[in-house]
Amino acid sequence: MPRARAFHGTIVHCPTIGDTKILENSLLVVSTDGRISHLEHDIPRSDVEETLSRLQLPGQEQPRMVKYLDRADFLIPGFVDTHNHAPQWGQRGLGGGLHILNWLDEITFPNEAKFRDAEHARKIYSSCVDGFIRQGVTTCSYYASLHGEATTILADVCHAKGQRALIGKCNMDRNAPDYYRDKDATESLQVTRQVIDHVRALDPSSDALIKPILTPRFAISCDDELLAGLGSLAKEHPDLPIQTHFNEAQQEIDATLGLFPDFKNEADLYDHFGLLTDRSILAHCTIMTDYEMDKLQQKHSGVAHCPIANTTVGGGFMAAPIGRFLEKGIKVGLGTDSGGGFSSSILDAMRQAVIVSNARQAINGEPALSIWQCFSLATLGGARVCSLDDKIGNLQVGKDFDALVIRSDVDGVMTMVQEDDTLAMVFEKFLISGDDRNIDEVYVKGRQLKGMNS
Ligand code: GUN
Ligand code: FE
Repeated sequence: MPRARAFHGTIVHCPTIGDTKILENSLLVVSTDGRISHLEHDIPRSDVEETLSRLQLPGQEQPRMVKYLDRADFLIPGFVDTHNHAPQWGQRGLGGGLHILNWLDEITFPNEAKFRDAEHARKIYSSCVDGFIRQGVTTCSYYASLHGEATTILADVCHAKGQRALIGKCNMDRNAPDYYRDKDATESLQVTRQVIDHVRALDPSSDALIKPILTPRFAISCDDELLAGLGSLAKEHPDLPIQTHFNEAQQEIDATLGLFPDFKNEADLYDHFGLLTDRSILAHCTIMTDYEMDKLQQKHSGVAHCPIANTTVGGGFMAAPIGRFLEKGIKVGLGTDSGGGFSSSILDAMRQAVIVSNARQAINGEPALSIWQCFSLATLGGARVCSLDDKIGNLQVGKDFDALVIRSDVDGVMTMVQEDDTLAMVFEKFLISGDDRNIDEVYVKGRQLKGMNS
């Protein structure tokens, strides 16, 4: 059981998308169930002890220790990674410049096939989950490989290490090599059910940190029977989220519509199979018509924006119209993707999201994003996309304490802090130039996962 804790200092979070609040002299209390039980602002440090005693918390809920943050430190919500291929942790960066289907054949399928070996899976997944926790990813939506055993190992690793995660066995029964393909739809669905049962048994409570997610890789790799079976599973279990790749690149869209000539676009295709719901996490969405955007909005489906992968692998320079999605009220979060990208950092994803939005603005005048907007996508936006915004995404009372302590004055590469900087300037410096060395402590549901010795 986590212990009751209190923090005093500056909180930065987004009560709503696009609205970032910097709240000085905040006093935040975490109860033993890992939830934020109290939050007050403008409490001078000298009044903290008295304020805590005034709360008259029961014995075990009275924090025995208060963590006082320095002037240039911040308490912020944990980062949410809405699209991440755990097996690609060890191949990241390879195959830049290849088009998506060639990159899958040449680089990715041979790598993911290695996860048939449980020991290999344990080794890579352990390093992967540690790596993301170190970088402040408190919640992650993972694609595993197609292997049932390796997928349950990924769930076990997240459970043991304390990361909040959605875990999906990748469904793919066609258009992949014999050595890396589900035998048929029946087997793919059967293994999916076994994985769901395993993940649910890890923690049967509705409050579980680890949850299953349906994961058709994309329509190219699933035949009609498999897509329909997954749609039925989604209907049978309305709480199950769904993730897939969606309108990632022209080569992929052409191949998809060639395989499904009855459909004119991917939105209608996934909708037909019951896979376009308010729990769908659609990765990429770089090439979108107004019709498809409106359909996503009507269905309340979410977008996992992966600007690093979109500009390094798969089909040249692809930039999703995020400004337009936001104007239309479509849910958007950020994803690291892994794959051919150069970084597994959500901070880097925020920066690249700014860059690709500048490109869209230059080309067709769409609204560009600020780094502050990207911070809201990395936290509350991601929580909404993962249908977890009732639990995480910001530091409101009643939510789980998934949080990071940011330190600005560490040895690293972050722009130096100067005496006359405002807090907004220091935090902007962190967003634009900080890295994992500035992420001093990481908490998920009150449990500390990084920085235990600080
Ligand atoms: N489409 C289908 N599989 C993948 C994958 O692993 N990565 C990316 N970026 N796109 C995909
Ligand atoms: Fe992907």
